[in-house]
Amino acid sequence: DRADALPYDLAGVRVLISAGGTREPLDPVRYLGNHSSGKQGFALARAAAQRGASVTVVAGSTADPGDPAGVQIVRISTAQELSEEMTKRAADADVVIMAAAVADFRPIAVADAKIKKGDQGPAPIELTTNPDILRGLVDARDDGRIPSETVIVGFAAETGDETGGVLDHGRAKLARKGCDLLVVNAVGDGKAFGTEDNTGWLLSAKGDETALPFGSKTLMSSRILDEVRQLVPDGRG
Ligand code: CTP
Ligand code: CA
Repeated sequence: DRADALPYDLAGVRVLISAGGTREPLDPVRYLGNHSSGKQGFALARAAAQRGASVTVVAGSTADPGDPAGVQIVRISTAQELSEEMTKRAADADVVIMAAAVADFRPIAVADAKIKKGDQGPAPIELTTNPDILRGLVDARDDGRIPSETVIVGFAAETGDETGGVLDHGRAKLARKGCDLLVVNAVGDGKAFGTEDNTGWLLSAKGDETALPFGSKTLMSSRILDEVRQLVPDGRG
């Protein structure tokens, strides 16, 4: 059994994970959403639980993630709901992992009734900015609203562009977010912009940069948790 090979090194560690995509409503039947499957977040949840952690997943829209044994699942829909749940629950977590695909923007107004096609042609959709949940968690830790030992992990999917490669964008995002670890995935045709063969990096606030060679989300999860374990103060696990 592969589970037998996993280290049991997260016993007693409380891990809070966001997973899946948010949906931002336009009216009672329509929303702006994204293609996140939630698979990475649920793979992390499963792996952390197998290593002994007590795991809560706050999940938006997902493909059928299966039913990870011993994991508490909280369902949300919008970025604002996700923000509320994560902010509230982070105070009781040792590790917080933001694997969700959060909509950067939401429609400024939600119609009470279904929007009709009418005969004027389409109206533009006005958007406003959602809270940056990851940044907010780091600010909460800085302000003492959540414990200073809390380990905070972010994800980023990046392509290179004319301003820099995947790794450059990852480093800049880590600095901007202020989290302890950033999992950077190279996506799309980004590799065409750079010379990197790897599909990702694990960047730490201390400056460690570990290449993540291509592998399953399960393998990726155990690499991430190995790194996380080193950041959890002794006595927690
Ligand atoms: N994130 C968040 N709240 C948001 C947007 C993103 O907490 N409103 C989190 C994601 O869950 C992820 C990390 O921030 O862990 C990076 O998300 P990403 O979309 O790459 O970062 P942005 O700051 O939105 O930058 P970009 O302009 O590249 O979209
Ligand atoms: Ca974004």
